[in-house]
Amino acid sequence: MASVEIPMPDDWHVHLRDDDMLAAVVEHTARWFRYGMVMPNLRPPVQTTAQADAYRRRILNRVPAALSHFQPQMTLFVSHDLDLDDLGRGIEAGIVRAVKFYPPGATTNSDQAKGDLGEFDELFGRLVEWNTQLLVHAESTRSDVDLFDREAAFLDDHLAAVCARHPKLGVTLEHVSTAAGVEFVRSNPNVVASITPHHLSRERADLLAFGMKPDLYCKPVLNTAADRDALVEAAVSGDGQFFLGTDSAPHPTTAKYGPNVAAGVFNAPYGLEVVAEVFHQQEALEELGKFVSLNGAAVYGVPPSVDQLRLTRREAQDTIPERLRTSSGEEVVFFGVEEARLWHIEAVA
Ligand code: NCD
Ligand code: ZN
Repeated sequence: MASVEIPMPDDWHVHLRDDDMLAAVVEHTARWFRYGMVMPNLRPPVQTTAQADAYRRRILNRVPAALSHFQPQMTLFVSHDLDLDDLGRGIEAGIVRAVKFYPPGATTNSDQAKGDLGEFDELFGRLVEWNTQLLVHAESTRSDVDLFDREAAFLDDHLAAVCARHPKLGVTLEHVSTAAGVEFVRSNPNVVASITPHHLSRERADLLAFGMKPDLYCKPVLNTAADRDALVEAAVSGDGQFFLGTDSAPHPTTAKYGPNVAAGVFNAPYGLEVVAEVFHQQEALEELGKFVSLNGAAVYGVPPSVDQLRLTRREAQDTIPERLRTSSGEEVVFFGVEEARLWHIEAVA
């Protein structure tokens, strides 16, 4: 049976939500991840150090005692309201790890964003001084840009100029979804990228060709098979510019199976199994630890975990959980059940 041991992984992009949903989902991230880079797109967004600190405490209050290894890493939502002195204090105090830019209107709750990426030069200059990473949701919202070209258009229209003006700014291209994005990262030494389990394992035919699948609808949208192949190639290559960020983004079935499908894939429960299966299919399991445990830690300046996990491929299991129910009765569907039937994960004593 195929098997691999890796340092406990980190999830460098995760949506943990709040209240009932937070209470229901956080254990799924905490089970196999050491760190989670927690996205700030709540309503209202997380924009001050005090809000980040309070949110961090709400998260920790909901982590089961047996999973106390889990440490949320907090981010602030970029907008003109961001107070740079407050941000600097938050970074200095170790409360804020990074900031996240969303183009207004691009994705869930980014209607709250204001301003073009090009309008934040003062912030970017300070981030360089503070050695703090800018996390970017890279999608053009121009109405004349095709849905499947939005990432490439954003890189051309916005991110390229920012990287040229701020050559020392560390940028994470979040949930890179296209070959064009991979190419952009490779040609910009200060740009790195997170890649999701769903963009590594699915493409737009899975989303659209057999009836539209709400559970696979996310932003940026799953793109072509060739784009997926470029992502897989980048992930298994071991290249330190690419690492796991699950973008686990739970939405209740009531928001998924309606006329307006909420964007987001809930992959926290089985994302690691999905990535293991991708690497296994590529005969690259020995590179898994770089992608899920080492590369991201190096980018964010932390040593990898000293705890180890063992992942072992197994005979397919019949019955594993496929959804959860929140205390208010909402259901959330798990991504990656097929792959998770094939993998056993355990902590190495
Ligand atoms: C995310 C969410 O639901 O918060 N949705 C998604 O499709 N990825 C937001 C985001 O990261 O774009
Ligand atoms: Zn996200």
